[in-house]
Amino acid sequence: MKFEEIKERAAKAKQDGQEIIVVLGLGFVGTAVVANLARTMAKAKRMFFVVGLDRDDAPGREKVARLDAGRAPTYANDPSLETVIGAAVKEPRNAIGTTDPRVISLADVVISCINLDLVREPGQTEVLDCPTAGYAVAMKMVGEHMQPGTLVTVESTLPLGCSDRVLYPALCEGQKKRGVDVVEDPPMLAYCYERVMPGPDYLDSVNNFWRAFAGIDKRSSDRAEAFLAKYVNVEKFPLWRHKTIRAAEMGKLLENSYRATNIAFIEEWAMMAERVGVDLFDVVRSIRLRKGTHDNMMFPGLGVGGYCLTKDALLAAFGAQKLLGVEAELPVSRRAILTNERMPLRAVEAIEKHFEGGLAGKRAALIGVTYRPGVADTRSSPSEIVARELVKRGVEVRAYDPLIELWEEFPEIAMSKDAASALTGADIVVICLPDAHYKNYLPDLLKQKLARGSIVVDAWSLITDALGAHCAENGIKLVVYGRGDVPAMKA
Ligand SMILES: NC(=O)c1ccc[n+]([C@@H]2O[C@H](COP(=O)([O-])OP(=O)(O)OC[C@H]3O[C@@H](n4cnc5c(N)ncnc54)[C@H](O)[C@@H]3O)[C@@H](O)[C@H]2O)c1
Repeated sequence: MKFEEIKERAAKAKQDGQEIIVVLGLGFVGTAVVANLARTMAKAKRMFFVVGLDRDDAPGREKVARLDAGRAPTYANDPSLETVIGAAVKEPRNAIGTTDPRVISLADVVISCINLDLVREPGQTEVLDCPTAGYAVAMKMVGEHMQPGTLVTVESTLPLGCSDRVLYPALCEGQKKRGVDVVEDPPMLAYCYERVMPGPDYLDSVNNFWRAFAGIDKRSSDRAEAFLAKYVNVEKFPLWRHKTIRAAEMGKLLENSYRATNIAFIEEWAMMAERVGVDLFDVVRSIRLRKGTHDNMMFPGLGVGGYCLTKDALLAAFGAQKLLGVEAELPVSRRAILTNERMPLRAVEAIEKHFEGGLAGKRAALIGVTYRPGVADTRSSPSEIVARELVKRGVEVRAYDPLIELWEEFPEIAMSKDAASALTGADIVVICLPDAHYKNYLPDLLKQKLARGSIVVDAWSLITDALGAHCAENGIKLVVYGRGDVPAMKA
């Protein structure tokens, strides 16, 4: 939408008592933030007029066009996103999209949800890069356009030290370029990391959840606290105010590293269980009964995917070393990243071992390609690692996932319309995810479809005793992550 029109509508929204919020970046996080703010009400009135701002490139323009048409700019399988955005855009028209950065000059608050990637070669965690300079350019641009008194909050996950060493100086630089005396009138910056949980409660997880934050100074912290309290359900989920902005950065990184490390830890035990003939799922289930200390122990799986758990521990290491100039050994966290990265390769190794003569010309079916069950996000999914390794070895790969029609990261892979067509004629099956759509009927379907000599790698222990017995009797190799008790195939 054109700047002049947005300006006019924002002025009217101001008269109606709404705050003007610019959300920078309309990806997975930005989409949920726009929808959540647009639906926020107080005394039967919408509180915010929300402008979604993305880059002026083809993907950015497409997201903006979707928002303007009342659609979620980024697809996530929470239907309420579409409903809420559709309703806001149509009437009361308090959400719009643009690629024109001049809208920042209208904002009371700018929320940055842009991506900040970690760059590294797989198989090592020592040589790391993170394009913080690109984020600084975005912050400088915000500083160049925003009015003094605007609050800038950042929801992106940041390397340690990024807020005070990179983003704040860039924001100040932008303000200075605009002629603002930043000593007299310093800009306000807060870090309010996002905990949005991909899945069917995506939207609700923005405001019906514990939120933590800190500002660059007391004034920024106070302002951020007041702003968050307007849309977070603080009665049920009181805000957590960190002592410093760096502590808030560490909060997000530690939270995700803790989870990634727990997953790697159980992977060690999965391999042990397979070797010594034990069903680790059974063992973990019994341990999880110890409420309070052990009830969130992980189960084995194909690996760790998604945009966050695969990088966040390394963002801490990168920031400490490169931005703050201190040692950042983090040996357990780094080891966990490498262990997790290897998890999907175990499936490929098992398949190679089964077909001793090589894999060229075989047909594989991958069941589940997103990084998490019930989440329509394929970024860094472990299934992609399996698919790429199999294709490299000459395997024809097909895949089925009820949430995915086109595999964006790997469009060459044919997506089947249902599990049965994916499995037809397959010599290799990898059960990559335990999606509720198919987990109950898949064992029976496998029984019907699999031929002698084929192999099933089940990363989630979906197999039933009946399927295990069928495979053993009919010369079908069955490998189950974390299960050393699977009946051996009869010769
Ligand atoms: N996906 C999640 O579930 C999740 C959860 C918590 C935190 N995070 C963090 O939030 C951040 C964003 O993640 P995401 O998954 O939404 O990423 P994403 O890649 O889906 O979206 C980023 C968006 O920002 C836009 N963008 C990039 N640079 C821009 C610029 N200079 N100006 C305007 N727009 C720009 C991109 O075009 C894209 O639309 C990351 O730091 C991520 O680690 C993500």
